[in-house]
Order: sequence, then C-alpha cells, then structure tokens
Amino acid sequence: MRVFEKKDEMKNFVSKLKKRGRTLGFVPTMGYLHEGHLALVREAKKTCQAVVVSIFVNPTQFGPQDDFERYPRDFERDLRMLEEEGVDAVFVPTVAEVYPKGHVTYVMLRGLTDCLCGRSRPGHFEGVATVVTKLFNMVRPDKAFFGQKDGQQVLVIRKMVEDLNMDPEIITVPTVREPDGLAMSSRNFYLSREERKAAPVLYKGLMTAQAAFEKGERNPERFCKIVMDMLAGEPRARVDYVEIRSIPNLDPVEVIDRPVLLAAAVYFTKTRLIDNVVLDPGKRR
Ligand code: PAJ
Repeated sequence: MRVFEKKDEMKNFVSKLKKRGRTLGFVPTMGYLHEGHLALVREAKKTCQAVVVSIFVNPTQFGPQDDFERYPRDFERDLRMLEEEGVDAVFVPTVAEVYPKGHVTYVMLRGLTDCLCGRSRPGHFEGVATVVTKLFNMVRPDKAFFGQKDGQQVLVIRKMVEDLNMDPEIITVPTVREPDGLAMSSRNFYLSREERKAAPVLYKGLMTAQAAFEKGERNPERFCKIVMDMLAGEPRARVDYVEIRSIPNLDPVEVIDRPVLLAAAVYFTKTRLIDNVVLDPGKRR
C-alpha cells in the first residue's frame, strides 16, 4: 500500500493507474476509521480495480466553535486497517498541501444548505464541497463512495457533481451501526460511558417513526414529534434539529408522497451526533 503526502505524488500514481486502464474508486475520509468507513472501502474494492482512500481533517468544514483541534486522530491505526482491506494508496496531505498560503477559491452552494446540518453549521457544506472538489481533481476517480449516515452531505455532493459537470459517479453506502443501533461515527469516541449508553435513543426514535410510516402515517409533523418525544425522555440528549425534507432537493414537505429524509442531530454535552432514515412511500417492505 502506497502512502502519499504530496498531491503531485498522488496525481502521478493515479496517472499510471489510468494508463494501465484501471477503474479507480475513491473514499474520502477524515480518518479515525471504523466499520462505517470500511464498508465504503469494501464497496469500492468490489466495484473498482484500484482503490484510493484519503485521510484529511479538513479545517474549512469546521466552524470556529467546532471540534477541529480535538477531532480524534490515529494515523498508524488507520493505515493498518486500510492495509488489511487491500487499499492501493492512501492520500494523507497536510493542511498546507491542500490549502497553500494564498488559497482563495471555494465552492459555494446557493441551495440545499438552509436546513438540517447546513442550518446548524453555517459554511460547513461549502468546506465539504471545496475539499471534495479538490480531492476529486487530485485523485480523478471513476467512482467516489459516501455514507448515507451523512444524508445531506451525499445529496450536496451529488448536486455539486451534476451542477459543475464533474465526472465521478457517486455511490451511496448504507449506514453501518453498532449492535445497539447507534450509527458508527468517529465522534462516538467523545461520549462518556453514560452518554454512550444513552446515545441509541436517536436511532430508537427514528425506528419508532419508521414503524409509524410503515403502518401508513404520512403526516411529516407526526414523525418529528415521535422522534422529539423519544429524545425528550432522555435527559442527556439535547435536540439540535429533527426535520423531514424531500429527496433529493431537501424541500419542506406537507405530506409524504415521495421519498423523504427524516434526519436528526442531537447533542450529548458537547458531542453532536447525527442520524437519518429514508421514508419511501414507493418502497414495499
Ligand atoms: P468522515 O466523517 O470521516 O466520513 C467519511 C465517509 O464515511 C463519509 O462518506 C461518511 O458518510 C462515511 N461514514 C461515516 N460513518 C458511517 C457509517 N456509520 N456508515 C456508513 N458510512 C459512514 O464525511 C466526512 O468524513 C468528510 O465530510 C469528507 C467527505 C471526508 C470531506 O472532508
């Protein structure tokens, strides 16, 4: 497995792969890897002849009050995990390599970000869109893999690829969960023992809402109330948002007659966890 810190080395490696006609899969990450990230890597391995993973904690997607400085990092462990998965190359640029002094160009979004995480974290998705664009330009993948866990992120990336006429095909991989339902996340590491015990309440709320949907409920407000009520029963949880939005445009919905995203963000002390389910009236279970 090759490890590159410099974009020119990364680009060279990719050029050689392309000359040999290899299809290239790309998994962008911020490291501190877990089974959720590995599900993306495995999907990439299944469908592409070569796989590149990036590990880069991207400062431009963190707000001033966010956890950029204390975001968990364990580079050696990440590399061991990726080696075991048979990844071809890992790109681990420094902040200065990605954003050299004098960098002034950013990707701006004029929609999709006035709700859900976009509303709670102003500027976050511009940072994501900018870094993903830069990584796509350096790695030039045929396919790029994103997790449903970050439901709004994958919709933003799909729209950006469409709007900016980018080449990579975007593949969405289902959310990987702990046995008790908690969505895997690098940020779960921040949770105290008591908070970790309480955290599956978010998934339970979403599952209760989904059960109501399957019984025929179609009023969006009811689903939000179900999740809110469940969260209200857990004193350690503080709600950031619980919202229903259409897929893929994230418009508000009055009745669920097309696929929607039921998404929520919850604080446990300073740790902010997110999760979502898709409610699709066209899908029979
Ligand atoms: P990060 O949080 O490290 O996540 C990297 C990828 O792994 C994302 O596509 C995310 O949706 C996916 N992922 C995380 N937890 C998952 C889970 N439990 N199940 C399935 N997939 C999961 O998302 C980012 O980094 C950054 O915003 C990035 C796209 C790398 C841009 O900086």
